[in-house]
Amino acid sequence: MTDDTTGTHGATPQDTAPDGERPLVELRGAGKSYGNIRALHGVDLNVRPGKVTCVLGDNGAGKSTLIKIISGLHRHTEGEFLVDGTPVRFSTPREALDQGIATVYQDLAVVPLMPVWRNFFLGSEMTKGPWPLRRLDIDRMKRTADEELRNMGIVLDDLEQPIGTLSGGQRQCVAIARAVYFGARVLILDEPTAALGVKQSGVVLKYIAAARDRGLGVIFITHNPHHAYMVGDHFSVLRLGTLELSAARSEVTLEELTHHMAGGTELAALKHELAQVRGVDVEELPEAEDLQTPAAASPEGKT
Ligand SMILES: Nc1ncnc2c1ncn2[C@@H]1O[C@H](COP(=O)(O)OP(=O)(O)O)[C@@H](O)[C@H]1O
Ligand SMILES: [Mg+2]
Repeated sequence: MTDDTTGTHGATPQDTAPDGERPLVELRGAGKSYGNIRALHGVDLNVRPGKVTCVLGDNGAGKSTLIKIISGLHRHTEGEFLVDGTPVRFSTPREALDQGIATVYQDLAVVPLMPVWRNFFLGSEMTKGPWPLRRLDIDRMKRTADEELRNMGIVLDDLEQPIGTLSGGQRQCVAIARAVYFGARVLILDEPTAALGVKQSGVVLKYIAAARDRGLGVIFITHNPHHAYMVGDHFSVLRLGTLELSAARSEVTLEELTHHMAGGTELAALKHELAQVRGVDVEELPEAEDLQTPAAASPEGKT
């Protein structure tokens, strides 16, 4: 990425070298068992700077387990996990964060009644003055939060408003800008669009693209292939804990991706049957849920 303006604060993403080929984060045959429940098995994954790696899968597919390994919440029980080519085994999220791996969870850790700028710096407040007279540097925090949000293209009317008054999409965006500011190189987003409407999802997708353009490696967890396809460079589909598909954007169409997501052959069979019914345009039936509604199968042919 041609980005020469990231040096506005201490922790700058170190992607200045034309090192696009070396993954920031890599899983090799990684897996995780909880007692005798094997939640994840044999997963290969590469996260590269300036790329969006989408991890898709139905409920229970192992998406959360995968990101918990990378974000330092759980340790893998098989295979390898590497950061910058070096095998690692984090025991706390703090260790992942120290390596520049930041996670934005769906239920964001914010204090709803505190202003936006205060939440932006929560736990990492700026201070001024010598100890023991040190106090919060409120002006600098406000100014910096404002600047950083603008840098990401996020314009909020008033940073004094409680963060609880922002929409879900806006809050996700603040969290993304915050991670970027605090030096994240890898940004993990756990289903950021799951609870959002169409328009707000679009806004979040825009900031995912903005983080990518600033050279971060983004891991975007979703069960929506349309959202994934709008921003993704690589797609990894999990099914019952194993990789069902791992493909670069050039190797897979949205239709194929949807097909893999929706349970492959079952959906194909259903589509085949529907294709026999005149008047039903199977091209317009990308989502598995659509096929479960009786209306979608209504055999209203023309003539
Ligand atoms: N802490 C846990 N203990 C036991 N089983 C778990 C635990 N967390 C997840 N699992 C199981 O692992 C599988 C994958 O779960 P998860 O990673 O949460 O999937 P997803 O996020 O894709 O819905 C599921 O069968 C789930 O029941
Ligand atoms: Mg999950």
